[in-house]
Amino acid sequence: MKICMIGTGYVGLVSGSSFAELGNDVICTDINKIKINKLNEGMIPIYEPGLEELVRRNFKQGRLKFSTDIPSSIKYCDIIFICVGTPTNKKTNSANLKHVFEVTHTIKNNLNKYKVIVNKSTVPVTTGDRIEKILNIKKNKNKFDVISNPEFLREGEAIRDFMYPDRVVVGTSAKKPNNIMKNLYLPIIKKKNRYFHTSRRAAELIKYSSNAFLATKIAYINEIANLCEKSNIDVKDIAIGMGLDERIGDRFLRAGPGYGGSCFPKDTRALVATANKFKTNLSIVKSVIKSNHSRHKLLFSRINKIMSNNFKNKKITFLGVTFKAGTDDMRESPALKIIPSLIRKGAIINYYDPSGKKDILKSKKIKYFKNIKEACNKSDLLIIHTDWNEFKQLNFKKLVQRKNFKVFDMRNLYSSKKMIKSNINYFGIGR
Ligand code: UGA
Repeated sequence: MKICMIGTGYVGLVSGSSFAELGNDVICTDINKIKINKLNEGMIPIYEPGLEELVRRNFKQGRLKFSTDIPSSIKYCDIIFICVGTPTNKKTNSANLKHVFEVTHTIKNNLNKYKVIVNKSTVPVTTGDRIEKILNIKKNKNKFDVISNPEFLREGEAIRDFMYPDRVVVGTSAKKPNNIMKNLYLPIIKKKNRYFHTSRRAAELIKYSSNAFLATKIAYINEIANLCEKSNIDVKDIAIGMGLDERIGDRFLRAGPGYGGSCFPKDTRALVATANKFKTNLSIVKSVIKSNHSRHKLLFSRINKIMSNNFKNKKITFLGVTFKAGTDDMRESPALKIIPSLIRKGAIINYYDPSGKKDILKSKKIKYFKNIKEACNKSDLLIIHTDWNEFKQLNFKKLVQRKNFKVFDMRNLYSSKKMIKSNINYFGIGR
């Protein structure tokens, strides 16, 4: 099939190169010339395990192309995916649909034959209706169907999530585009019945409801972790004990520094904004947002306690600063909230992140190190902020080379018992 991805960001690039891998003829387009030029030279603009090889292989085989000529690419293809960003509207907390509608107008002017217009951007319920209305001019009659096909790709696991999906959700009331989509996804859904066909509005809401539900699971276990800390229980045991009940499941029950990233914070806010429009009070989602928001303050007071409120010239090392492991993404990372509070208290921050140097805060008191050893040397406190594999088997004493250092493991990577046995001042989350 001939596929055009409009928007070569995270979703467009991962989905486009994966569709090419499945044997399709794909053009990934974008208005950003620098990005497209780089991709044509083999340079990948984002960090995602396995993506570089996937792009290179399919580019070399001629199944994957990159272009800024969006009109010609639309005309050439049969399936057009809208994969642009829907950031938060700061004033209303709703999703900003500016880019979605800009793209819709470009599609409107270039419909030369029948095409399936697939919206993959995360959009509020009824956006598909609005896209359809824009496209529905006289010359475009019978030349398109607008459908919803939300993405469920986790950063750091995106290719695996694409190739082995829990489900593929397609929203349309028309038969023709549904058959085309089923055919497109056939190689990855044929083994298991994982294709779910529903209405367009339902598909749009499935995306938000899923993200908000996962955010709820995380906020919930984080609050239970707070209780565990006070009652001398390990939250990991609670998560295991709960997760064994298949109705609950053990995934997304890991307590930590709170959820971040480009999706959960933005999508929970946008879902509440949509519900407000429909005069519906999503009190649970609202509490989740509030609970997650207060998490960094809570963690800061824990660090305060660990350091006995003495931060002056104390060296604190962050292992990982991105919002989670496996990504270079800093968006809504808990570290962005915690580090400035520590600096204000007089601490010096060292950090190491496997994905490289980051823009955190312009301050001489923040220093990036290219390796774990130098970052940890003579530190007063190590904070394990993300769970990259390379943080899982560290010899803390050898790394820090000083007495009385402390470790705050925000991802519970280590066994408290072993740490106590090794005489290390160790603190976890919910333990
Ligand atoms: C999330 C969803 O998992 C994807 O299904 C969805 O497609 C994507 O958003 C999106 O809407 O585009 P992502 O933001 O990449 O994916 O990352 P997750 O792995 O879901 O983690 C989100 C946050 O929750 C991170 O800050 C992570 O550290 C935190 N988390 C996750 C926990 O604190 N505990 C857990 O058990 C799981």
